[in-house]
Amino acid sequence: MKGLFSVIFMLFVAATPSLYARVTPNAGSSSFNIVNYGAKGDGQTDDSQAFEKAWHDMCSATVGTPTLLIPNGKSFMLQPVLFKGPCKINSIKIELQGTLVAPQSADAWKWPDNNRGGWIKFSDINGLVISGGGTFDGQGAAWWTKYPKYSDRPSALQFIGCKNLALSATNHINSPRNHISIDSCSYSSISNIHINSPEGSPNTDGIDMSKSSNILIKDSTIQSGDDCIAINNGCSFLNITGITCGPGHGISVGSLGKDGKFETVEEVHVRNCIFQGTKNGARIKTWQGGSGYARKITFENIILNGAKNPIIIDQNYKDFQHNGPAVKVSDVTYRNITGTTVSMEAISLNCDPVGCTDIVLDHIDITFASAGKSAQSLCKNVNGTFTSCIPIVNCS
Ligand SMILES: *[C@@H]1O[C@H](CO)[C@@H](O)[C@H](O)[C@H]1NC(C)=O
Ligand SMILES: *[C@@H]1O[C@H](CO)[C@@H](O)[C@H](O)[C@H]1NC(C)=O
Ligand SMILES: *[C@@H]1O[C@H](CO)[C@@H](O)[C@H](O)[C@H]1NC(C)=O
Repeated sequence: MKGLFSVIFMLFVAATPSLYARVTPNAGSSSFNIVNYGAKGDGQTDDSQAFEKAWHDMCSATVGTPTLLIPNGKSFMLQPVLFKGPCKINSIKIELQGTLVAPQSADAWKWPDNNRGGWIKFSDINGLVISGGGTFDGQGAAWWTKYPKYSDRPSALQFIGCKNLALSATNHINSPRNHISIDSCSYSSISNIHINSPEGSPNTDGIDMSKSSNILIKDSTIQSGDDCIAINNGCSFLNITGITCGPGHGISVGSLGKDGKFETVEEVHVRNCIFQGTKNGARIKTWQGGSGYARKITFENIILNGAKNPIIIDQNYKDFQHNGPAVKVSDVTYRNITGTTVSMEAISLNCDPVGCTDIVLDHIDITFASAGKSAQSLCKNVNGTFTSCIPIVNCS
């Protein structure tokens, strides 16, 4: 009798997997399917609660690598949501095959505690792996015209205080503001991702980093309305390689030192990238009146296809409120940068009287993409070495 009862019970379980999952979420298992948490995936229904419940179970799971499957062919609408650690296990996987989509109208976003920072936030997690070929769709178009001030618009995906994060094989489209923001993270990588928003979309940086170290970003394409990658205060030991950037504003360090602040960036190495019709290329920008430094930075093996302002150091970002010191720029190397520019001034090293020191330009060959005119350079308050450099740089 007891045996018959359990057979019937098991048949019942097999026939209604989603009901069973909701009653007893996969406490002892390491595999979680968002559909079993009641998520509809119709692109309209708010599925946030299903994700919050699934995250709670994954983050408290104690066996294997807790893995959340977000299935292909479905679109899950999420309100702003926070996935918070630390979790019981330092290895958690999100297999994103389908699409996560933000609410369609900007005013339909439901903000928790007045926190407008971001749409999908992951914080204080060690060993988070996200991959699977799926898409984060920030529905930014609804925001770009309605909220012209950038600080009124949220970033799409934010990682805060994460360690050993690996984000790969995902697509990121139309964020209201930055597509991916990396804040206070370390020992992490981003690879084989695609970021895409229109050229004119405001402040839609691809990847923004601050206070982060030991980060590798590689083999990805970034098309956006602002910086492809922005490296802000407190970053060190970053490698960026194999990025095709454009349209976009290039790869930028800074701006650093706004409002008189002390800010630093060091050990940033950008290699093997292509700037395709970008508004800037390899850029370092600092504000007048700030302090701190940008140092030990290399940009090498870069191909330019009609990039505007391909090489820029601007230590003179104007701020009329603040005078005094400047953010020091030193030990910056630009090597093997070749191709075409659409702005006549291909190289602009525009430093404050404090000066930029130990700037190296080597094997630079940039052609102005318009017949009969040649590219030019500007150099102010710079010392360093300049070898095989077209256009010639004259820093006397
Ligand atoms: C960056 O590259 C250097 C030199 O190739 C390497 O020693 C270092 O481990 C790399 N760091 C990261 C975070 O990829
Ligand atoms: C210069 O950069 C190009 C483009 O990334 C690369 O193919 C080439 O091997 C580099 N040359 C050297 C000498 O490193
Ligand atoms: C640049 O200036 C710094 C500080 O004055 C000095 O230490 C360094 O040797 C100079 N470098 C070159 C290449 O002249």
